[in-house]
Amino acid sequence: MARVTAGVFTSHVPAIGAAMDLGRTEEPYWQPLFSGYEFSRRWIAANRPDVVVLVFNDHATAFSLDMIPTFAIGCAERFEPADEGWGPRKVPTVHGHPELAAHIAQSVILDEFDLTIINKMDVDHGLTVPMSLMFGQPEAWPCKVIPLAVNVVQYPPPTGHRCWRLGQAIRRAIDSFDGDLNVQVWGTGGMSHQLQGPRAGLINKAFDNRFLDRLPGDAAGLAQIPHIDYVREAGSEGIELVMWLIARGALDETVLETHRFYHVPASNTAVGHMILENRSQS
Ligand code: DHB
Ligand code: FE
Repeated sequence: MARVTAGVFTSHVPAIGAAMDLGRTEEPYWQPLFSGYEFSRRWIAANRPDVVVLVFNDHATAFSLDMIPTFAIGCAERFEPADEGWGPRKVPTVHGHPELAAHIAQSVILDEFDLTIINKMDVDHGLTVPMSLMFGQPEAWPCKVIPLAVNVVQYPPPTGHRCWRLGQAIRRAIDSFDGDLNVQVWGTGGMSHQLQGPRAGLINKAFDNRFLDRLPGDAAGLAQIPHIDYVREAGSEGIELVMWLIARGALDETVLETHRFYHVPASNTAVGHMILENRSQS
């Protein structure tokens, strides 16, 4: 049977991808950020997933304001890196897992979570930067990826509580897939940042660290945070953190905190990163 073994949580700042692509990771500005992922690279080499369900948001790249699915699952064989204005990143094509994706879609939709089914989509920094952070710069990505896109760009995004419960439904779906697969679920985006308006540049270290404190053992409590608190405390783009609750919802209630890292700044963003492992797998 397929089993969920771990969750990876990380910010997805586009400048991190550019720093890697341009060979600037050893520069004084970037070195402390990348040092926080050295453990993660060793960990994932030793705990390589067959499939990652990668929860991310599209930043008006694949979707425009013409069509805004709240939750969308990528069921395609492959997803190309998107052109975000400077040409597509020179990172490998992302290969999907259509069978597991279709199974998740069926299971979750019949479980009363209405996913949009995507059969063709390019993937932007929200997905490719976490892949680069965890896997470096390989010729080909070492696992399959099922993109799970969440609207956090155009109001109203889903509530944290809805996201957490969707994660639980995704877990039930993976548990019922008849295939021997090691599956990880990743949550991306955050932490505090605001890219626009008078509060552009906002960072809230206290809010972010409290969120990291509570993620392993108090996801139910985090799921109660209303939108307005994310916006007030973590900035307009801090709402991306609801995506972490989908990944957390797919894990066991009790998890092992394998790794935790927090760094300010990376571009305009506070970078948070955590690895949680299911105890039942260890
Ligand atoms: C930045 C952060 C993001 O999450 C994003 O999607 C785009 C830009 C930034 O900090 O520059
Ligand atoms: Fe973002």
